[in-house]
Amino acid sequence: MSRKPIIAGNWKMNNNSQKSVELIKGLKSGLDDINASLLPEVVVAPVFTSLYAVNEELNKCAYSKIALAAQNCYYQDHGAYTGEISIDMLKDFNMTYIIIGHSERRQYFGETDEMINQKAKAILANGLLPIICCGETLEQREQGITDKHISNQIMQALEGISSEDTAKSVIAYEPIWAIGTGKTCDADEANRVIKMIRETVKNLKGENAANSIRILYGGSVKPETIEEQMAKSDIDGALVGGASLKADSFAKIVKGAMAKASV
Ligand code: PGA
Repeated sequence: MSRKPIIAGNWKMNNNSQKSVELIKGLKSGLDDINASLLPEVVVAPVFTSLYAVNEELNKCAYSKIALAAQNCYYQDHGAYTGEISIDMLKDFNMTYIIIGHSERRQYFGETDEMINQKAKAILANGLLPIICCGETLEQREQGITDKHISNQIMQALEGISSEDTAKSVIAYEPIWAIGTGKTCDADEANRVIKMIRETVKNLKGENAANSIRILYGGSVKPETIEEQMAKSDIDGALVGGASLKADSFAKIVKGAMAKASV
């Protein structure tokens, strides 16, 4: 079964509107000469305050090769939730995906598995798609509880979500010790964990959901690592942090996923 790969850039808390637009322009020109059908799905997740400008820039061409994601959302539609942004509000900017459960949000902002599940359900109910992040700490890996921890995160995130909605969703496996450290997870090991995630999805939601859901790897992905990662059976793309902040390195990563995109 062929799954369309995704290369998603998580810009984290970087780039004001002007810098975001410059980065998008650079990326657009880096991908200019490539027929869209040969590309993986290309996604960028700017900060909230840059979404308007980035969307305007993307709308300048008749057909954009780049889709938009938000880095977070709240699950209520509106109300007294100071500082939060609802999914309906994000839809103003032509959003396709919303990243939820990133380890930085879990670690610094107290995002729990229950909140991630509520967000996933609200995103799907609003017609958008969640990119659900999961991953283990170095300590958990050393204790040998990586698989148990991750399958637990996935089980909770997908609670009450239908097989059809699961099939459309995206998971990003991001070992925390590999995020922003330059220490990429060995491609075979990343593939092993991703296969285990797919098996978990199969047990919970059935074969079709497991075969359709796209599962990305994230954690120090670079132009030099992407081809080996994409060559693995179950890795359907990458969630890229640091290397997505430079147009040339992100475009190289996108191009590194082309072989799988065109099969
Ligand atoms: P990194 O970040 O590529 O800088 O390691 C990945 C992520 O946190 O999504």
